[in-house]
Amino acid sequence: MRYLILFLCVFTACQTPVEPEEPIIPQEEPETTYTATKSLISAAPFRVGVAGNVAGLKEHTETRLIDQEFNSMTAEYEMKQNIMHISKYDYDWVSIDEFANYTRSRGMRVHGHALLWHSAIPSWLENFTGSDEEFSDIMKAYIQGAVSHRPKDVQSWDVVNEAFEDNGDLRNSIFRQKMGDDYIAQCFQWAHEADSSVKLFYNDYGTIWDDRKLTAMLEMLDDFEARGIPIHGVGFQMHITWDWPVIEPIKKAVDAVASRGWLIHFSEVDIRVNEDGGELELNQRLAELQQARMTEIVNLYNTIPEEQQFGITFWGLRDTDSWLIDFWGNVEWPLLFDHSYKHKLMHKGFVEAFE
Ligand code: G3I
Repeated sequence: MRYLILFLCVFTACQTPVEPEEPIIPQEEPETTYTATKSLISAAPFRVGVAGNVAGLKEHTETRLIDQEFNSMTAEYEMKQNIMHISKYDYDWVSIDEFANYTRSRGMRVHGHALLWHSAIPSWLENFTGSDEEFSDIMKAYIQGAVSHRPKDVQSWDVVNEAFEDNGDLRNSIFRQKMGDDYIAQCFQWAHEADSSVKLFYNDYGTIWDDRKLTAMLEMLDDFEARGIPIHGVGFQMHITWDWPVIEPIKKAVDAVASRGWLIHFSEVDIRVNEDGGELELNQRLAELQQARMTEIVNLYNTIPEEQQFGITFWGLRDTDSWLIDFWGNVEWPLLFDHSYKHKLMHKGFVEAFE
């Protein structure tokens, strides 16, 4: 019996044609990075910035990537009021000094962000119970202290960030409640008195996709112009996705500010490619969509008169450094470099805009 089974196995094997081994084709690595031959700052005639933090300055230094790719820096959170303004008339300027010392030795500039932001109010100020007059005195001393601390290094400031609600109403922050509806103009005047060489910006999101907010900002700018309130430019945060908003409303907002002669800063650029959270890793298709979007945004920026180009700042160095991951709670690859500091196709999209 055993021999019969053995015979049948051998016989069957002889009958079944043996398929040739499929050659194992190595899985192509998805093309999401490339070998850069030109840096951002050698490609662009305007300043290119990156948002960072003090710990990151040390961590990233060994790669020299920041020095090679950027000539402007914004503190992602360490130069905000909740960090610097310790109590009524006490301040912590350590972060300003850290950034100023790092950038001074590298010929970079620091863009200060942000003197007033309703999301970065120190708790002791939130709970302030003194008079409105005392509140104003405290804010004036803080603003003038920060602006005059390192003006040769911190050559510009977002004086006020996100003062308008999405519907264009003036946000009812503690600043407005305590200092009145004209608090924004007052803060710009105090900042200018502290050091007239420092460029002063209003910074916001949503002005590139909501006419109500854009109109509110333009009315403020026109009012400031008419009253001689010292302001030099506008920051468009530019937290966008690869396909939203389409370029038309962005162009409309940029043209409206450029035609008024103000400096323009694309101040917090990141480009989401996983807005519905369905992707688990960056693939070539998404990387190429992000590359094309980057080129589109830089092409738009290049339509601004050169003397009004304050710069483009990216809101983080590596994808894994992005605030978006915690904010949205899913993986995302919105920046120029991947976790291992490789240049992504988004970087190529920036450089290609100048070719
Ligand atoms: O790194 C410290 C950590 O050591 C500490 O243990 C921890 C506990 O508080 O805080 C960590 O710092 C956090 C920091 O992000 C780094 O992750 C701060 O708490 C947190 O407040 C900070 O959030 C920043 C946020 O502004 C508030 O300042 C984000 O990084 C920053 O991306 C975000 O940036 C804003 C712009 O200023 C304005 N436009 C919107 C943009 C995104 O919200």
